[in-house]
Amino acid sequence: MWGGRFEAAPDAIMQEINASIGFDKRLYSQDIVGSKAHVAMLAAVGILTEAEAKRIAKGLDRILAEIEAGTFTFSRALEDIHMNIEARLAELIGPVAGKLHTARSRNDQVATDFRLYMRDFLDAADVALAGLQRALAEKALAHAGTVMPGFTHLQTAQPVTFGHHLLAYVEMLARDRGRLADARKRLNECPLGAAALAGTSFPIDRRMTAKALGFARPMANSLDAVSDRDFVLEPLAAAAISAMHLTRLAEEIVLWCSAQFGFVRLTDAFSTGSSIMPQKRNPDAAELVRAKLGRISGAFQGLLMVMKGLPLAYSKDMQEDKEATFDALDAFALTISAMTAMIRDLEPDEQAMRAAAAAGFSTATDLADWLVRHLGLPFREAHHVTGGIVALAEARGVGLEALDLAAMQEIEPRITREVYSVLSVERSVASRRSYGGTAPQNVRKMAKGWIKRLDRQAVRGK
Ligand code: ARG
Repeated sequence: MWGGRFEAAPDAIMQEINASIGFDKRLYSQDIVGSKAHVAMLAAVGILTEAEAKRIAKGLDRILAEIEAGTFTFSRALEDIHMNIEARLAELIGPVAGKLHTARSRNDQVATDFRLYMRDFLDAADVALAGLQRALAEKALAHAGTVMPGFTHLQTAQPVTFGHHLLAYVEMLARDRGRLADARKRLNECPLGAAALAGTSFPIDRRMTAKALGFARPMANSLDAVSDRDFVLEPLAAAAISAMHLTRLAEEIVLWCSAQFGFVRLTDAFSTGSSIMPQKRNPDAAELVRAKLGRISGAFQGLLMVMKGLPLAYSKDMQEDKEATFDALDAFALTISAMTAMIRDLEPDEQAMRAAAAAGFSTATDLADWLVRHLGLPFREAHHVTGGIVALAEARGVGLEALDLAAMQEIEPRITREVYSVLSVERSVASRRSYGGTAPQNVRKMAKGWIKRLDRQAVRGK
């Protein structure tokens, strides 16, 4: 491969550690698109003749077809996807194939291929996350008025609606999409033409290749163009944050599916049984979504360590940027699909949720607020009085709603029968109409707003 300088072939171990074809063959379509843009530019500026460029482009098309048909033979001796394709091109069209690599290096080539790949990933992830948002928003609309307990410290805190809870994730995913979109903007510059590290003496037109590949502009510094991988790190970091959000929802599904909560049920399609315990229905997909963050965050950490302290410009260390990244991006895509399918699949047990929402004195804050509003108590004092009433109810083994008025009046004589109007979970959620609050009317409005927005985005995306 290296021409005149070498006499002997590499040692088998050298080949094994050096070759990347096992994983970078995934970049074949980006590599071919990049080469076609490069060759068209070489012809446009007169470095190649139109006839030469046409032959090379035709050969590249044929290779694309071979790879897609599964008839292409990848060779480890040829190291990577770039050399594999170039070698096949020479077999197909002869020595003119050697002109493709004019004014280019594998360093700017791989940086270009990988940017194109990451850009495709970001676009696909955005569509997938929007699909999950839609599934959540639709379920939220259907359950805008379904009451469940809201938790802090995983202790019953105040009643909320199931729709409100689901919409919390729609908001998180919106920010995730924002982070991915930001990364896309910074990523979308073209390294091609930076050559090995210093640029080239050939009169190339970098604006032309950048434009042909859909990049906003060529990268301004050839050393930077071939040697940074922040365009991988940033999407990985954004994916890790998003996957973290999914782990929280996954964990909640695991909890909600347990007999102890009994809040939701996944159908058979999303449950697994046990080989020994016939009664089991396990939410394995949710558990796996919860676990996949390990790979995604691991890939981010791994690449960060690969890049740490690398002097400019390219070093072979950077070949270690791909394998774990591909695995992480696959895992991220799969977690989004699995979560979307589970959200569509699951149905809440409204009675169980309501009963749990009413337990644990969840409307105690409503009682304290009533004391503030109707008796003019400072909130701190109302809090204290309510604590006394909760203790009394607990001692008698009843909920606040079932505690008789005389008992309440033992603690605060000015309490009237009217207090019972705020003690039901339905009244509690309905009263929380502050912007962003859990009231069913808020949730309905927010869910509809999201569905509309997602519709508009889907139309714009096409
Ligand atoms: N397979 C290599 C990689 O992924 C391509 C670039 C090789 N460049 C070099 N100078 N050896 O990084």
